[in-house]
Amino acid sequence: MASFACYLVLPLLLASTACHARDAVTPGRPLAANQTLLSAPDGKFVLGFFTPPGANSTYVGVWYGKVSVRTVVWVANRERPIPGGVADNHGATLSVSATGTLAIATANSTVVWSVKPAAALASPAARILDSGNLVLAGAGGGVAWEGFDYPTDTLLPDMKLGVDLVKGRNRTLTAWKSPSDPSPGPVVMAMVTSGDPQVFIWNGDDLVWRSGPWDGVQFTGVPDTVTYSDFTFSFINNAQEVTYSFHVHNESIISRLGLNTTGNNGVLQRSTWVEAAGTWNLYWYAPKDQCDAVSPCGPNGVCDTNNMPVCSCLRGFVPRSPAAWALRDGRDGCVRATPLDCRNGTDGFVTLRHAKVPDTVRSLVDMSLSLEQCRQACLRNCSCTAYASGNVSADRRADGSGCVMWSAGLTDLRVYPDFGQELFVRLAAADLGITSKSKKKHVIVAVVASVCALAFLLAIAGVFFWTRGKKKARKTGSIQ
Ligand SMILES: *[C@@H]1O[C@H](CO)[C@@H](O)[C@H](O)[C@H]1NC(C)=O
Ligand SMILES: *[C@@H]1O[C@H](CO)[C@@H](O)[C@H](O)[C@H]1NC(C)=O
Ligand SMILES: *[C@@H]1O[C@H](CO)[C@@H](O)[C@H](O)[C@H]1NC(C)=O
Ligand SMILES: *[C@@H]1O[C@H](CO)[C@@H](O)[C@H](O)[C@H]1NC(C)=O
Ligand SMILES: *[C@@H]1O[C@H](CO)[C@@H](O)[C@H](O)[C@H]1NC(C)=O
Ligand SMILES: *[C@@H]1O[C@H](CO)[C@@H](O)[C@H](O)[C@H]1NC(C)=O
Ligand SMILES: *[C@@H]1O[C@H](CO)[C@@H](O)[C@H](O)[C@H]1NC(C)=O
Ligand SMILES: *[C@@H]1O[C@H](CO)[C@@H](O)[C@H](O)[C@H]1NC(C)=O
Ligand SMILES: *[C@@H]1O[C@H](CO)[C@@H](O)[C@H](O)[C@H]1NC(C)=O
Repeated sequence: MASFACYLVLPLLLASTACHARDAVTPGRPLAANQTLLSAPDGKFVLGFFTPPGANSTYVGVWYGKVSVRTVVWVANRERPIPGGVADNHGATLSVSATGTLAIATANSTVVWSVKPAAALASPAARILDSGNLVLAGAGGGVAWEGFDYPTDTLLPDMKLGVDLVKGRNRTLTAWKSPSDPSPGPVVMAMVTSGDPQVFIWNGDDLVWRSGPWDGVQFTGVPDTVTYSDFTFSFINNAQEVTYSFHVHNESIISRLGLNTTGNNGVLQRSTWVEAAGTWNLYWYAPKDQCDAVSPCGPNGVCDTNNMPVCSCLRGFVPRSPAAWALRDGRDGCVRATPLDCRNGTDGFVTLRHAKVPDTVRSLVDMSLSLEQCRQACLRNCSCTAYASGNVSADRRADGSGCVMWSAGLTDLRVYPDFGQELFVRLAAADLGITSKSKKKHVIVAVVASVCALAFLLAIAGVFFWTRGKKKARKTGSIQ
């Protein structure tokens, strides 16, 4: 009770010494179930024993120090709780041994969870940092183990999702089974590095969401990222790591990315704490709409929520199963109206604008190529069906650099009203409509159409200005 009161008043008093708050567990100074650690220097995170609402088990976890609704962001022993609530477990402890083994034990000294450093540490301490990271280190200062390498269901600012090739860690998020059960549920989010890396969410074996690859600025399937000016999103893809993280510039903004189970599905939510309202505000979430369901329009189909029906075929393609397609079941996708004609070198490309590019798990990536070199490489390879820039410029005015090439079907393709990338889809000459005869015809049609349109616009403008002039005259008249 006392420690709970401490944790409530501490941010107000800003007097950590008054409550004897500490931020570390050291040999001979374990943490008891009725105590907490408070991160230094700002008390942003608390580490302690907790029992989720509706549960009768005890866990060691990390929650916010300055958020009045207890929000657990990390759990140590999620797979092996201590039976009974915190009140039943006064004697449980979190301790560090003289050599640096960090362990959670019950009152009768049964160890339910532990981490042992690769080598014994001198003067070890387990410390909760203001980032929310629980760090085990020795006197030398080198980090022997850290909680950020073992995420639970929440990505905090500066915490990395993805693969650390040096440590051999694959940092994934796994949703709680339910709000009263932190144990790993079926909903998982992870970075898949094959082809062009992407983030996926699964619910058991079912694919729930695909981020699309990083296009240099954002994930192609998270198109509104650039509008969040208080955040920086970063993606690192090199020999040491393939990771995603976000950084919040404004110290007073509390934001987290959490993976959850809703009804029958998985959902990724970015929430931001609104102090005035005392609630978490939902900032962004995915999957969001019908087109975020994985490949609702099948291979070579394009999903567009602004169309009814949402599925259409790429230009130059026709539905594979017209009967199913007519019933708005797009999953079979589309096939080419005309086969490619690679050897003759007459194939060309059509541009699909504002696209979330297709699944890149089996794409070829060459970041050293320019977009024009990419086009030529695609034309040279008879199995290449589309290409796109791998690294668009931040202002999207230039072409960008880097090359992503697809072969076979283009799956899980959607378009946005405004965001997204340009995708260049390979077509046979017959489907490009660029034979000289049809080109001429198009030009004539276009010229006739523009002349008609211009005449029509002029007529409308004439009528508009005429009536406006009259109205204005009338209005002016009435004022005088
Ligand atoms: C909670 O668990 C403890 C220990 O397992 C048990 O003694 C107690 O009866 C349980 N309480 C409830 C409400 O189930
Ligand atoms: C915590 O529990 C121990 C015994 O279980 C008790 O001696 C101590 O006073 C308690 N501390 C607080 C802060 O409640
Ligand atoms: C010690 O506690 C654990 C978990 O609370 C329980 O499973 C085990 O039976 C207990 N052992 C003894 C000897 O009481
Ligand atoms: C990381 O884990 C996920 C989920 O288990 C898996 O699909 C993915 O391929 C893994 N990534 C790497 C690089 O091992
Ligand atoms: C940080 O965010 C707070 C609350 O949203 C706002 O009042 C403040 O002006 C921001 N500070 C900066 C430097 O943007
Ligand atoms: C999951 O949803 C529950 C209920 O809405 C909420 O209490 C919890 O904070 C959510 N978890 C995450 C990681 O956002
Ligand atoms: C290549 O072009 C020639 C002449 O235009 C045509 O007869 C031939 O069928 C084309 N080859 C293929 C594989 O379509
Ligand atoms: C052509 O593309 C296929 C499929 O992506 C790939 O396996 C093959 O290596 C490529 N060939 C060349 C010469 O790039
Ligand atoms: C992407 O392009 C920018 C310049 O627009 C460049 O600074 C950056 O290194 C490129 N990234 C990769 C992975 O090639």
